[in-house]
Amino acid sequence: MTMIYILGIESSCDDTAAAVTGDDHILSNVTANQDVHRNYGGVVPELASRAHQQNIIPVIQATIQKANIRKNQLSAVAFTRGPGLLGSLLVGVSFAKSFALGSGIPIIEVDHLRAHILAHFLRNEKSIAPPPAFPFLCLTVSGGHTQIVLVKDYFTMEVIGMTIDDAAGETFDKAAKIMGLPYPGGPMIDQLAREGDPQAFKFARPNIPGLNFSFSGLKTSFLYFLRDRLKEDPGFIEKNKADLCASIQSTIVDILIRKMVSAAGQTGIREIAIAGGVSANSALRDAFLKAGEEHSWKVFIPKLEYSTDNAAMIAITGYFKYLKKDFADQSIVPYARSTF
Ligand code: KG4
Ligand code: ZN
Repeated sequence: MTMIYILGIESSCDDTAAAVTGDDHILSNVTANQDVHRNYGGVVPELASRAHQQNIIPVIQATIQKANIRKNQLSAVAFTRGPGLLGSLLVGVSFAKSFALGSGIPIIEVDHLRAHILAHFLRNEKSIAPPPAFPFLCLTVSGGHTQIVLVKDYFTMEVIGMTIDDAAGETFDKAAKIMGLPYPGGPMIDQLAREGDPQAFKFARPNIPGLNFSFSGLKTSFLYFLRDRLKEDPGFIEKNKADLCASIQSTIVDILIRKMVSAAGQTGIREIAIAGGVSANSALRDAFLKAGEEHSWKVFIPKLEYSTDNAAMIAITGYFKYLKKDFADQSIVPYARSTF
């Protein structure tokens, strides 16, 4: 049988990414990060959209070249339809449409959050371990979302818990900003925390019933704690940076793990996965492995390059939709908010 080659395009936030899959195997995965936002302490939507326009053609050329295929071998183009920044999404969506039209191949719309989960099904020539078996639970933790998802099959997913305010990634980024660390703060906190004591400081933990999360109280508790300490000692953050990072990180990780323990207990499911940018966090990865041993879970942790935003996850989702002939129409438009 001939192989199905999918070009995946991801442009929902500040990474311009393109990837090619051959069936469920990853052939190439290219991401151009945008440095223009560094000076602003966060993503500036207008600058992101402009940078996508500059990056998209070279990124796609590079990914097709790396995949070692010809453009006319592609079976379809899959693109992130949302959620994300509309101006950024529009660049990927418009490019996908015109590329597919010019090549005479179908387009496939992909939801970014579902794609983070389906990244677990990406294979390469070294893949030995099987992917998660249905049904499994996935903790999706990114810059804008925190969800516990019951994954029944590639397309049937039910959100059984979510944040009622800030996302986990947002909490990392805001805590970093409060400490004067550069954007994006999550990876920075992860790095600095390695030298710190996670028990050094205690912060308020939410008491939210069921499987939902709340992070806004923790953020406020962190802000007020530092405000009070800085009054006594203006050098407090500088002197305690590693301990502060380790303590806030371990609090966030602990909140996430506790809810996953409840979700696994309630559903009886023991195939447990994590996905999204925050799943790159080393403390979260370690805590998941430990919880897996304690609770006899089979734990699935994505490779680092498939944790944070990437187009390989878009291409693999496109592949599964291609098998169902689930194609989009040229009139399709992006959406800013999640539909699931
Ligand atoms: O999935 P993602 O790349 O983009 C969105 O879909 O939002 O997630 C980005 C989020 C950011 O908040 C970033 O700070 C966080 O993931 N992040 C991390 C780490 N790497 C990325 N947070 C903690 N530790 C990390 N190592
Ligand atoms: Zn993401």
